Amino acid sequence: MSYNIYQDNILDYSQNPRNKGTIENPDLHFRDVNPLCGDELEFFVKLDKNNKITDVKFQGSGCAISQAAASMVTEELMGKTLKDLINYDKKRILKLLGIEISPAREKCAFLSLRVLKLAAYSKLGKKELELKEKLDEEGLGY
Ligand code: FES
Repeated sequence: MSYNIYQDNILDYSQNPRNKGTIENPDLHFRDVNPLCGDELEFFVKLDKNNKITDVKFQGSGCAISQAAASMVTEELMGKTLKDLINYDKKRILKLLGIEISPAREKCAFLSLRVLKLAAYSKLGKKELELKEKLDEEGLGY
């Protein structure tokens, strides 16, 4: 795909977000804000007894990149496992977006990854300090 097609794809996902909404009694849930701009994302994930993702939804508001990345990642995660989610990294998000992201827009691109990781790590019982350390290790800290 050419650069423009990727940009059109991002616009489409941000204007027509897939899997936007909420889930009653989610197994994973977290909401976080990009402190630089105030944009926010909230994720809801439903797991089956084998920790397979059976539903994932998000809501929030923000720039085209943050909203498109959130929407794209929900599609990717459907049917994956909690372990797959934990193994997601920044490279995977960049591949989904398909365009070069400037350092100034990195927080936008990775906000969804940060919130999903916070949801997953919270489920695994990590305490606040551990959460912060894990995110810093993965380059997702603030
Ligand atoms: Fe706020 Fe992109 S400008 S997340």
